[in-house]
Amino acid sequence: MIEDEYYEPLPRRREEKRVKDRDLYETVEEVFDHRTVLTLYSLIRRRVIKRMNGVVSAGKEARVYLGYGWRGERYAVKIYFTSTAMFKKGILKYIIGDPRFEGFKPRDTRSLIYAWTRKEYRNLRRMHSVGVKVPRPVTYMNNVLVMEFMGEDNRRYPLLIEALPELTREDLETIYNLVLEENEKIVCRGGLVHGDLSEYNIMVKPGIDIVIIDVGQAVPPEHPGFWDFLRRDVYNITRFFNEEAGLENVYEPEELLEVYKECLAEEKGGV
Ligand SMILES: Nc1ncnc2c1ncn2[C@@H]1O[C@H](COP(=O)(O)OP(=O)(O)O)[C@@H](O)[C@H]1O
Ligand SMILES: [Mg+2]
Repeated sequence: MIEDEYYEPLPRRREEKRVKDRDLYETVEEVFDHRTVLTLYSLIRRRVIKRMNGVVSAGKEARVYLGYGWRGERYAVKIYFTSTAMFKKGILKYIIGDPRFEGFKPRDTRSLIYAWTRKEYRNLRRMHSVGVKVPRPVTYMNNVLVMEFMGEDNRRYPLLIEALPELTREDLETIYNLVLEENEKIVCRGGLVHGDLSEYNIMVKPGIDIVIIDVGQAVPPEHPGFWDFLRRDVYNITRFFNEEAGLENVYEPEELLEVYKECLAEEKGGV
């Protein structure tokens, strides 16, 4: 069940384990069902994570926690709720039509959410492997995704929407170019469309650099919605940088879509 290239088991120490269990229960028990707690417990037993700390983000569909590995690594542990019926409708359209999930028929909401978690992990892995600036995926299990924590000390990097008031025009130009660069990698090298690319799913690193997050809905070109999702991403990004960030020299969305069309055609051996 665990798909993971990075994890190496370490020897176990019983007294450590007891303390971690208590921390874990205190952290997640009130919010998540018993099976989710067991999944986290299993990740601890397998020595993927050592303990869970505070909530980084409490969304409607998932919560993200700061977790620690056994060597002091910091992880973002994203846990999906398994009982959100509204969410279920929204995600089906990104699973049906994705050849990686051909023949998949969800038995219930839970199995759909498990598939969704696996999908996010796989999208993350694919993007990471072609050099897209995404958090390094660590592993997934059931409705829990473990990835690299993106932040300084124990604070996550701000989202682009949060950083906006502090950014200079020059910063914004740099970020705009970085976003286009990453999106081109996602499409042309990764063969995926992000599907929810916006100022809410881009983090800003001091220095200036960016991190792309929240890749669960990404699908490959075989998916019938691919071009609609890509068009929507491109329009959203263009609108943000033009209207909210005030950059005048942004590309026309259709111009960007042409670039993606060409690189995907080349990929197929067409052009
Ligand atoms: N790898 C990460 N490192 C640090 N913080 C993260 C990481 N992934 C997500 N977050 C934080 O958690 C929030 C929610 O995560 P996200 O993947 O966007 O899920 P959703 O928007 O569906 O709730 C993000 O806006 C960000 O603040
Ligand atoms: Mg998000």
